[in-house]
Amino acid sequence: MPGIEVVIVGGGVIGWACGRALATRGTGVAIVDPGPVPGAATPASAGMLAAQTEAHDERKPGVLALCVRARETTLRTARSLTDTTGIDVGLLQRGIAQLALDETEERTLRAAVAHQRQLGLRAEWLDATEVHSAWPATAPARGAAFVPEDGALDPTALAAGLRADAERVGVRHIPQRARALEVADTQVRGVRTEAGLQEADAVVLAAGAWSSELRLLPRPLPVEPMRGQMIALPWPERMQPAILYGHGGYLLPRRSEALVGATMESVGFDHTTTPDAQAWLRAIARAVIPSLGLAPVARHWAGLRPMTPDGLPLIGPDPQLDGLWYATGHGRNGILLAVLTGEIIADLLHTGQAPVDAGAFRPDRFHRSGSRHNQPNG
Ligand code: GLY
Repeated sequence: MPGIEVVIVGGGVIGWACGRALATRGTGVAIVDPGPVPGAATPASAGMLAAQTEAHDERKPGVLALCVRARETTLRTARSLTDTTGIDVGLLQRGIAQLALDETEERTLRAAVAHQRQLGLRAEWLDATEVHSAWPATAPARGAAFVPEDGALDPTALAAGLRADAERVGVRHIPQRARALEVADTQVRGVRTEAGLQEADAVVLAAGAWSSELRLLPRPLPVEPMRGQMIALPWPERMQPAILYGHGGYLLPRRSEALVGATMESVGFDHTTTPDAQAWLRAIARAVIPSLGLAPVARHWAGLRPMTPDGLPLIGPDPQLDGLWYATGHGRNGILLAVLTGEIIADLLHTGQAPVDAGAFRPDRFHRSGSRHNQPNG
């Protein structure tokens, strides 16, 4: 809303996406963020836009459609960021192939392809010969599910592009750590930082795995860190760039490297790396591209995904405390959902209507009793 001031807690890809979307609609926005934090999810991410490839959980109605919409929104935004900021977000649009390395995987992946085709989405089953001729360096596979519209981008470049564009439309950065919400009666008044009170009409909590650390939230936030470790190996010579899932993980090319991910570990805020995880990631690389078996590990890192109990984010207003908004808990899909999250928050805040049916992401789904707000779904 023009005339209102919003403070966003968190300067990762979600925070800047929200800031950009709000400021574009005329809202005054400040992002409170102390600067790079070890273990932060954005720079540690692979950058997958695996809307269909990672759509394992079909129990939640509408989630696949939201992910597909998020992919489209991100691709459109990526192109416009290059125009407005000159930043190239490193889009890789060659599709994603998920290799079936045994009979069970073949059955599951064939069913996923059939299901997505029934929904009108593009997905193909490639047989063993087609897989070998497309990616000759891969291990012998029974076939692969191929999603031509999935892809990846460089998450650090996306964050830089969103930030540059947000600053272009007036978003300010306050390099402080937010400590606590400031609440008077039943209305949020801002956030307390190390430097004092930052007043606001609304606060958007977008601090990733650290979101639940903000003090004076109305109730414990169901967001916990989920460590993901990754390694980088040299991309195999003479192999075309390709994004490949298999053996419980994935490989993607970035510059001259193959990034291999990723563990899912519930170890609190520990963002260190471990030899066991490195061995596990090497086994994934070897199982998908055997020539990587002896490749030297160039880098090994970890990031903390903000995970909710159902793996889906919290996007929208607090059901009881006026002026508190959530844009957090994106789990494995932070990069894919970042731009759409900004659009949902900005539209809800401005018009009360989301641009999509984001009911699956309602923040009150874990504490429905006592809800006061009915969040419109668009
Ligand atoms: N979306 C990939 C991951 O979280 O590892």
